Amino acid sequence: MHASEMRFVGGATGAWRVHSMRAIRGETLGGGDRIAQVPAGQPLPPGMWTLRGVPSEARYTRASERDALQAVQPPLGRPAASFAALIPIRKSPAWWALAHDERRAILEEQSHHIRFGLGFLPAIARKLYQSRDLGEDFDFLTWFEFAPEHASAFDELVAGLRETPEWAYVDREVDLRLVRVA
Ligand code: HEM
Repeated sequence: MHASEMRFVGGATGAWRVHSMRAIRGETLGGGDRIAQVPAGQPLPPGMWTLRGVPSEARYTRASERDALQAVQPPLGRPAASFAALIPIRKSPAWWALAHDERRAILEEQSHHIRFGLGFLPAIARKLYQSRDLGEDFDFLTWFEFAPEHASAFDELVAGLRETPEWAYVDREVDLRLVRVA
């Protein structure tokens, strides 16, 4: 097991209550009223499903973009950020067949993922986990935290991204909205 692996367990325990779960593309995830976030080395509670990921190194971000992000990105765990979203995503074989420069061009030059997303910081805190190399069904686990007053901004953000050329390569996506209970 990777030392920094994070596991998200859907079941009856955990600090986050599932407010809604919606399959955007492909199969949904079965059940679970709560989500537990369990770091590597800690025992897994029983659950209906477990998703695993490793915190991501930046693959596509340029230095100027990294600096712009670092200047405004908030940390996870802010007391006011009692809403969260867990959005596992898989991209199609066509995406993975592309070269790195082609993927970067779709993500940013065509879809403006980073530039568009930056506009929602510091309201939204984010963390990206990679799952593909762990042999998981999803390629990425994306995690976001925000205050209730920014829930509609978050809806605008995901709706905007889903209209981009990048999202034409998304072949499985489940959108879980969560409320902190502990
Ligand atoms: C809060 C605003 C957001 C910002 C600033 C942002 C920024 C970024 C950045 C910089 C990367 C590239 C990381 C790298 O260099 O490898 C990235 C990747 C990614 N983001 Fe976002 N993002 C935001 C929102 C979202 C949302 C709402 C979703 C899901 C609905 C999402 C899904 C992804 C995925 C799946 C990747 C990985 C893409 C790939 O490697 O093919 N992002 N994001």
